[in-house]
Amino acid sequence: MNRTLVGLIALAALLMPLLPSDSYGATGKENYATYCMQCHGINGTGKGINVRDMAVQPRDHTDAKAMNGLSNDRLFKAIKEGGPAVTKSVLMPAWKSIFTDEEIRDLVAHLRVLCACTGPQ
Ligand code: HEC
Repeated sequence: MNRTLVGLIALAALLMPLLPSDSYGATGKENYATYCMQCHGINGTGKGINVRDMAVQPRDHTDAKAMNGLSNDRLFKAIKEGGPAVTKSVLMPAWKSIFTDEEIRDLVAHLRVLCACTGPQ
């Protein structure tokens, strides 16, 4: 094998986890565990391993009182477009290049499981 080919294969392997197809078929719960828990914590309490270094603390998704004040549309927008789209911190990333709308709806549904709340009716 020549060097260019080896380089390309190494690059492909490196980029593989970043491809959108990585999330295909995963449930909201699985995607949350893969993509959200570094900041929001495995149980959604906002205490992921990143938070020590973060100026703005991630939302506690198990806080029913606070989460009840946020509509599904608002949660959807925050996940799809990122924090600034809902006047929140840039530390909350935009996920539109990673997830389909359907996957984002599944994530919103999972947030409702975590908070055991429905949001404003
Ligand atoms: C790099 C860290 C980080 C990751 C990864 C992350 N978040 Fe966040 N998230 C934040 C921070 C910080 C906030 C709080 C922003 C604020 O209060 O200004 C937040 C806030 C939120 C909010 C509340 C927005 C609102 O309207 O108040 C939702 C919903 C949310 N995140 C969902 C998710 C989901 C779902 C994922 C995984 C797909 C995720 N986050 C991944 C850092 C992160």
